[in-house]
Formats: sequence, C-alpha cells, structure tokens
Amino acid sequence: MSDSHLTFCLLSSILALILIFTFIKRKKPTLNLPPGQMGWPFLGETIGYLKPYPAITIGHFMEKHIARYGTIYKSNLFGEPAIVSADAGFNRFILQNEGKLFEISYPKSVRGILGKWSMLVLVGDMHREMRNISLNFLSHARLRTHLLKDVEKHTLLVLNSWKDNCTFSAIAEAKKFTFNFIAKHMLSLDPGNHETEQLKREYVTFMKGVISAPLNLPGTAYRKALKSRSNILKFIEEKMEGRSKRNQEGKGSLEGEEDLLDWAMMHSNLSTEQILDLILSLLFAGHETSSIAIALAIYFLPGCPRAMQQLREEHVEIDRSKKQTGEVELTWDDYKRMEFTHCVVNETLRLGNVVRYLHRKAIKDVRYKGYDIPCGWKVLPVLAAVHLDPALFDQPQQFNPWRWQGKNKSGSWQNTSNNFMAFGGGIRLCAGSELSKLEMALFIHHLILNYHWELVGTDQPLAYPFVDFPKGLSIKAEALSKYHNSSLETT
Ligand code: HEM
Ligand SMILES: *[C@@H]1O[C@H](CO)[C@@H](O)[C@H](O)[C@H]1NC(C)=O
Ligand SMILES: *[C@@H]1O[C@H](CO)[C@@H](O)[C@H](O)[C@H]1NC(C)=O
Ligand SMILES: *[C@@H]1O[C@H](CO)[C@@H](O)[C@H](O)[C@H]1NC(C)=O
Ligand SMILES: *[C@@H]1O[C@H](CO)[C@@H](O)[C@H](O)[C@H]1NC(C)=O
Ligand SMILES: *[C@@H]1O[C@H](CO)[C@@H](O)[C@H](O)[C@H]1NC(C)=O
Ligand SMILES: *[C@@H]1O[C@H](CO)[C@@H](O)[C@H](O)[C@H]1NC(C)=O
Ligand SMILES: *[C@@H]1O[C@H](CO)[C@@H](O)[C@H](O)[C@H]1NC(C)=O
Repeated sequence: MSDSHLTFCLLSSILALILIFTFIKRKKPTLNLPPGQMGWPFLGETIGYLKPYPAITIGHFMEKHIARYGTIYKSNLFGEPAIVSADAGFNRFILQNEGKLFEISYPKSVRGILGKWSMLVLVGDMHREMRNISLNFLSHARLRTHLLKDVEKHTLLVLNSWKDNCTFSAIAEAKKFTFNFIAKHMLSLDPGNHETEQLKREYVTFMKGVISAPLNLPGTAYRKALKSRSNILKFIEEKMEGRSKRNQEGKGSLEGEEDLLDWAMMHSNLSTEQILDLILSLLFAGHETSSIAIALAIYFLPGCPRAMQQLREEHVEIDRSKKQTGEVELTWDDYKRMEFTHCVVNETLRLGNVVRYLHRKAIKDVRYKGYDIPCGWKVLPVLAAVHLDPALFDQPQQFNPWRWQGKNKSGSWQNTSNNFMAFGGGIRLCAGSELSKLEMALFIHHLILNYHWELVGTDQPLAYPFVDFPKGLSIKAEALSKYHNSSLETT
C-alpha cells in the first residue's frame, strides 16, 4: 500500500466521521440531560433504588446520588430511562402539569393488579369521571354528617377490644380499624362478619402482590395476588347482583344511607367492570395507607413525651367541655378544635412518608431549569426527599409537631407548609386526604384519653419502599379510664 493511498484512506475516513457527526448533531441537538448514570443494562439502578431503608431517612441510594449529582438526576429504573427529582420546585411543577407535560405512569404490574379502570391508571376524561365519583363520596359535607360519626364508632370498637397490659401488634389493630370503616362505607359490610374477615384476608395477599416483582409464575406473590384480585372481584360482583335484584323490587337504600356501591350503581353510567375496579382500588387505597399513618403516630409519640403531654391536655379539655354540655359523640366542631393534633398529624405524615414517590412520565419534551427531559422518559417526584430536606425543614429527622404552629410568622412555617406534599398534588391530589386526617385525629383522641402505651422490643418503620414495620409494631397498652373519666363507654 503506498503512502498516498494510506493518506487518502485516512482523509476519507476522517471526512466520513465528520459527516456522520454533523448528521447526528443536526438530527438530534445535544440534550442537556440531568447528570447521573444509567447503571446495568435493563436492570439499571433499580435494585439499589428499591433496597429497604429506615423510613425517616431518604436512604443510602438517594443520599449518595443527591450528593454526587444534585436533587435532579437521571437513572435507569424499572427498565426505563428515568429522571428522579428530590427538588421541591420541580415536584410541584410535575404535579401541576399533569395531563399537559406529564402523565401518571405506574408500572405494568400495578395495572395488572389494580385493573385498567383503576384511578391510578386512568387519564383524561375517564379519570375525571371516576375521581368525581370518589370525591362526591368523600366530600366535605359527607365527612361532617356521615363519616365522622362512623369513624368514631369504628375507633371505639377497636380500642374497646384492647386487653389491659397486653402486648399486641399496633399495625394489625390500625388495619382492623381502617378496613372495617372503609368496608362498611363501600359495601355495607359489618365488622367481625365472616364475609368481612374473608375479604380482609384476600386484601393481605393482594397487598403483597401489589408490591412484589411482577412475575406471573406459579407460587409467586404476584400470581397469588392476581388470584386474590379475581376473588375480590367475584365477591363485589355478587354484591352488585344482590343490589340490582333489591333495586328492582323497589327496596333501595334510603337517601344518604347509600354505600359507594349503591351510589355508583344508581348515579353513574359506569359499566360493571368499571365499578368493580373502582371499588377494589378504593378499598385498597382507603385502608393500607391510613393504617400505616396511624401506626406511625403510635410509634413517634412515645419518643416525644412533651408532645404526648400537650396532646393529652388538648383532648382532656375537649372531653371535659363535652361532659359539661352532656354531649357524647364527637362533632365537626370538636374536630376543628384539635389544633395541636392537626400539627401531630401533619408531622407524622411528613416524617413517616407513607407514599414516598410517585410514578410519572413526560408526554412532551420538557425543559426545566436548563435541563432537558425527553418525551417518554419516566419521571419520579420523590415527596419524601423534600420532606426530609434540611434546607427546608430544620432538623428534619426530629419529630417536632411545633414546626406546624405559628401561621403568622413567615420563615419556617412558610417552608413547612409550602413544601408538604404527603397527598400528592394537582388534579390527582389524594381523594381520601381529608378522611385519613379525620381517621388519624379521632383515633388519637380516644387512644390518648384511654390508654398509656409503650413500644415493646425494637421495631422501626422501613421503606420497602412502601412503609411497614417488620415486626408489626408491638405495643403494650395500659387502660387509663380509672384515672380520668373519659369516654370508652360510648357505643
Ligand atoms: C395517610 C393516608 C394516605 C396517603 C398518605 C395518601 C396518599 C396519596 C397520594 C400521594 C396520592 C397521589 C398518587 C399519584 O398522584 O400518583 C393518592 C391518591 C389517591 N388516594 Fe390517597 N392517600 C391516603 C389515604 C387515602 C384514603 C383513605 C383514600 C380513600 C378512601 C384514598 C384514596 C385515593 C384515591 C382515590 C387516589 C387517586 C386520586 C386521583 O388519581 O385522582 N387515599 N393518595
Ligand atoms: C360530578 O358530580 C356532580 C355531583 O354528582 C355532578 O353534578 C357533575 O355533573 C359531575 N361532573 C362530571 C364531570 O362528571
Ligand atoms: C396493669 O399494669 C398496671 C401497672 O403496671 C397495674 O396497676 C394494673 O393493675 C394492671 N392491670 C391489669 C388488668 O393487670
Ligand atoms: C357517561 O356519560 C358521560 C356523559 O353524560 C360520558 O361523557 C361518559 O363517557 C359516560 N361514561 C361511560 C363509562 O360510558
Ligand atoms: C397540615 O397540612 C395541610 C396541607 O396538607 C395544611 O393545609 C394545614 O394547614 C396543615 N396544618 C397545620 C396545623 O399546619
Ligand atoms: C426557610 O425559608 C427561609 C426563607 O424563606 C430561609 O431563610 C430558611 O433558611 C429556610 N429554611 C429553614 C430550615 O427554615
Ligand atoms: C394569626 O393572625 C390571626 C389574624 O391575623 C390572629 O387571629 C391569630 O391569633 C394569629 N395567630 C398567631 C399564632 O399569632
Ligand atoms: C370522675 O367521676 C366521678 C363521679 O362521676 C367524680 O367524682 C370524679 O371527681 C371524676 N374524676 C375526675 C378525675 O374527673
């Protein structure tokens, strides 16, 4: 090969390379993606991201990534390229632009289990319609008139069953309370009933599947959960048939006494399949989360005796003034008076982070603070990382209900209030947020008036990433009713 031939080859290769590069460049302007690494092929960094860690922290994975890349970084999660956000402003931006720039996008496994008509899957008009039904059912007016009374009733039912000085799982008790309540209001099931217990057992299997790897193989948690899903649907469908028959005979429920199933059957044009998925996912959303939140309060409070004391004073005072007027049942005004309790509720949700992050995807090319987020990428707003950010919350890992006080002082309360997103936001703000706060407050009311409790053994909430207590949160409760005349005798 001659020198000139070699030079020619070299030159033409360089030319070709330049051409290729300019072509690529012209076709795809360089994107300024957030920093980060994509990890292994397919698996990406999913294993590190999902590794369990203490729930009052953001976990080793997030800490490391935020330290290296900042609060917005790219990764590869759940088999897709993803942008992770621990940035309060960006999280708000994502939630406010639902349907415009971003859209809900839960993994396929969740879709298989909750159903294609679940509200966590639907978008657009169909989502709006389903949401409207849920909001009507959980409306402020219904909370005041119907739900409050029943929340109290179901609280007392559970607390009354506690045996003095016995040790038991607080998670199991909280679940009993929230499940009984929601099953009553969705399907008119009575607590303790054979049917109710059977449905509760199905939901335990169901829960395990929602959070497991989506392997549809014999013996896997996912396969068992699909079986539970079909059992639950069959159960609800039988109820529906019973209702249709009853309605034809003209013996429908009284106005206001309807459960959600009646309501959906009478006042919506949803198909049977749609009603089934709606009830199934509301039963699920309506008890798994708020029971964990109640357990978290039971866990945090003994670590903060001053809060315990102030809570007790607040509720003894409410109890005392009710005794004076001869009122027995709690009212909406009593609930509004539980000011410090509201701080405890918010603080529990902030520190415990029941729902740690949401699943979204970009439905357009998005530019945010100089970063490009390509259309189709997964976007994960991590609510927990904002709630535990020391730049926004002073000593974020401390349980400090007083940080919620002092609306008039700017500074710290502003930070606290503006960056709190335990229930998500935008057009998908949790439909059950007011109900779950009411459940927490009324449960705390009767708990603190009637029991002194301590934690038994060592247990702590872990993020799997769903939050749970690995040992079920054992507590020992001692009845207080002999010391101050409070009110367990209400039915
Ligand atoms: C402490 C308890 C709870 C927490 C922390 C919580 C949190 C959340 C969050 C963060 C979302 C937004 C999901 C997303 O945008 O991807 C959500 C949605 C939802 N939650 Fe809750 N939730 C709780 C209790 C409840 C209860 C008791 C119910 C019902 C009885 C409920 C019903 C719903 C429904 C229906 C949605 C879907 C709303 C929509 O897509 O329009 N939640 N929840
Ligand atoms: C939402 O519910 C209300 C009350 O039942 C009803 O009047 C309204 O038409 C519904 N809106 C939509 C968009 O379905
Ligand atoms: C429970 O324990 C307390 C103090 O340890 C004691 O005073 C009380 O009598 C015990 N109650 C029962 C029913 O054993
Ligand atoms: C119910 O009716 C509304 C209009 O009244 C319509 O927009 C909606 O698509 C219907 N829903 C179903 C499930 O057919
Ligand atoms: C608790 O958080 C909610 C936002 O979800 C806020 O509107 C409310 O004012 C907070 N409560 C207190 C006592 O700060
Ligand atoms: C809260 O916000 C103010 C400014 O509004 C800021 O100076 C302060 O450092 C923030 N952080 C905390 C932990 O209060
Ligand atoms: C906040 O301001 C309102 C009215 O401006 C006042 O009634 C209230 O007492 C103030 N609260 C505190 C904690 O200063
Ligand atoms: C409890 O009630 C009894 C009579 O009903 C009363 O004598 C006693 O003082 C009350 N105790 C407290 C702590 O209020």
